[in-house]
Amino acid sequence: MKLLPARHLAGKLRLPGDKSISHRVALIGALSTRSSEISNFSTAADCASTLSCLRELGISIEHEQDKLIFAGSDEFSAPRRPLDCGNSGSTLRILAGVLAGHDLTAELIGDASLSSRPMRRIIEPLEMMGAKIESTDGKAPLKIHGSNPLKPITYTLPVASAQVKSAILFAGLNANGRTTVIETSPSRDHTERLFNGFGIPVTKNADHSVTLWTQGRFIGGSMTIPGDVSSAAYFLAAAMLLSESQLTIEGVGLNATRAAFLSVLTSWGADISTTDLQTERNEPYGTINVRGGLNGAAAQSDRILSGAMIPSLIDELPLLAVVGSQIAGGIQIRDAAELRHKESDRLAATAANLRAMGAEVEESDDGIAVAGPTRLHGALIDSHGDHRIAMAFSVAALIAEGETEIAGAECVAISFPEFFTLLESVVQR
Ligand code: S3P
Repeated sequence: MKLLPARHLAGKLRLPGDKSISHRVALIGALSTRSSEISNFSTAADCASTLSCLRELGISIEHEQDKLIFAGSDEFSAPRRPLDCGNSGSTLRILAGVLAGHDLTAELIGDASLSSRPMRRIIEPLEMMGAKIESTDGKAPLKIHGSNPLKPITYTLPVASAQVKSAILFAGLNANGRTTVIETSPSRDHTERLFNGFGIPVTKNADHSVTLWTQGRFIGGSMTIPGDVSSAAYFLAAAMLLSESQLTIEGVGLNATRAAFLSVLTSWGADISTTDLQTERNEPYGTINVRGGLNGAAAQSDRILSGAMIPSLIDELPLLAVVGSQIAGGIQIRDAAELRHKESDRLAATAANLRAMGAEVEESDDGIAVAGPTRLHGALIDSHGDHRIAMAFSVAALIAEGETEIAGAECVAISFPEFFTLLESVVQR
């Protein structure tokens, strides 16, 4: 994909449903005793992986106009072939939690990137609950030998991970007692909100732990999934960096454990406001408005992203590093070693690509420091097959001088197949 600089962004958008919420709602639909009707389901290839695994498990899922209909049954059949999770960590890890509590054996496989990512983080708690899991040195393929009922556990997460927390909570639906997950820093809380929204009580305790009180069955229901705020992030950042921009995105998820980047951009001088706030099954959403341009200098403390805020910014960090190259004084990201275990090593990929565009970057074990402001120049960008790297550097391309080529740009389909078409629809040159 070749991209030229833009003058500004203008227009109004609505985005496909949130990827994280879609995975969870699909699992809830599959685990429900009655039918569910889901609108604005994510168009991400990752969520298609979740649906195809569920179909292999015997769940009926139909498209009717723009809705997905889950027939509901609450019964899985043993799959005849391995369940292919593609590139999707959420599919593999959370589905492993679901399968742990079913009396069947299933193998979960993925592509080369997913097969290189750490899985001991789910194997350990799910085995404590009573499942048996075979792996290749802690990595996929994973063969899950489920068991029903499971034993309830209280488990402290060794790394902040919503996927691991969710795997344990989904497994807890088939545990005969109380399941508690203790987090050191709060990660995205969609599973907790949606369990409550679909009728299964989960409480958040004062000490950052969450408790699922007892085993339970969903009964199904309908939901319109809010637009994906992580997809919105690329448009908002580009609009902020191009001073004459004026962009509105309607119906976007505004869950605080996902939308923290909005406060970061505002603290760096962005003019962003949110209106029309509503909720759907406990998930907040609304309209985001952004006007281009940076107002004032960012305080030094706001230019350091570290500690407990990292999990709620996790998917936006490559993009924030790109934006940081335009901020007076530059920015630093610390305590983010988890970025090395995403679809690519996102710290290394972000640092190398920013340098290729002329930015000054220092990389450490758990973060990067980006000097700013720097006039970026067009370059050949290696996406490393990672959708978030491809999209973050598409934003860099719009503010750079000259042409940028993104190698492997088709990987945007992992989370956002419409990305380049929608971007062209709001870019003014
Ligand atoms: C996700 C959680 C995050 C995030 C990923 C999606 C989820 O990973 O990076 O894109 O849907 O739960 P962690 O499990 O590391 O929090």
